[in-house]
Amino acid sequence: MFKILKKEEWSPSVFAMEIEAPRVAKKAQAGQFIVLRVDEKGERIPLTIADFNRETGAVLIVFQVIGASTMKLAELNVGDSIVDFVGPLGQPSEIEKLGTVVVVGGGIGVAPTYPIARAMKEAGNKVIAIMGAKTKDILIMEEEMKAVTDEVVVTTDDGSYGIKGFVTNAVQALVDRGEKIDQITAIGPVIMMKSVADATRDLGIRTIVSLNPIMVDGTGMCGGCRVQVGDETKFACVDGPEFDGHLVDFKGLMSRQRMYRDLEAQEKDHVCNIGLDR
Ligand SMILES: Cc1cc2nc3c(=O)[nH]c(=O)nc-3n(C[C@H](O)[C@H](O)[C@H](O)COP(=O)(O)OP(=O)(O)OC[C@H]3O[C@@H](n4cnc5c(N)ncnc54)[C@H](O)[C@@H]3O)c2cc1C
Ligand code: FES
Repeated sequence: MFKILKKEEWSPSVFAMEIEAPRVAKKAQAGQFIVLRVDEKGERIPLTIADFNRETGAVLIVFQVIGASTMKLAELNVGDSIVDFVGPLGQPSEIEKLGTVVVVGGGIGVAPTYPIARAMKEAGNKVIAIMGAKTKDILIMEEEMKAVTDEVVVTTDDGSYGIKGFVTNAVQALVDRGEKIDQITAIGPVIMMKSVADATRDLGIRTIVSLNPIMVDGTGMCGGCRVQVGDETKFACVDGPEFDGHLVDFKGLMSRQRMYRDLEAQEKDHVCNIGLDR
């Protein structure tokens, strides 16, 4: 069993939890994820490792409540435990000194960019973080990000904070001011990662994206997470989740994500109707 050490609500429907998982914390690296199960009957869901502390053995996850499993997880409190917390899984981010690195996080995608930004800074890069949110109220981790980067640029869709517009506008603004960007890592909704990759293709900026296809076993056995990257079929759980954004078949990824929508809606209704005691 894995105990919840800390729980905070960072914005409506976004929760941060520290889980006691010393073996995961010991090996975790930026870019990796865990697969957890809330209880014996629960589904396995993948969540990115947003932070880890090798001394205390705590692993931070930040999640948005969107369906049955995340709803059940959000109902738990400090002192409660979850049955499975498996990881670290996936390939770590490639961390090296490149020059100027930009991390772009959209919505909940800001959380997984945080350990990457920190590791890139520690490797000697100039790091700029672009953080996008629909509105100011749901922006997360601004102070944490400021502490590990050289500059933070915030965009909000409604202009309630920072630059009004999308993260792609902020990327363009950096280019316009003469910033020589050596690499961008973009994490967030698929449509956002696609837009960033489309924008940077012509600019010739290497762009890494972290994909979130449906995952079942998380170990490369079931094929559920397969994605087309250039001429190759890759399994996001073992080959990724990070890939070259200019080679990813985003259209295929989006259509596979829609495959289970009806079943997921039924399960969410089920949990809402019978409560969490099952
Ligand atoms: C590598 C990876 C890292 C992720 N990291 C985070 C994170 O840090 N924070 C966060 O909030 N979310 C993250 N996600 C997405 C998260 O796994 C889903 O939100 C979660 O599984 C939803 O489960 P649910 O039962 O609450 O919702 P459901 O109603 O079951 O699903 C809602 C939507 O979530 C996605 N989803 C559902 N099941 C899975 C699954 N097994 N694998 C992948 N996606 C699924 C689908 O897009 C689906 O339409 C990550 C996904 C992947 C693949
Ligand atoms: S989740 Fe089964 S192969 Fe990746």
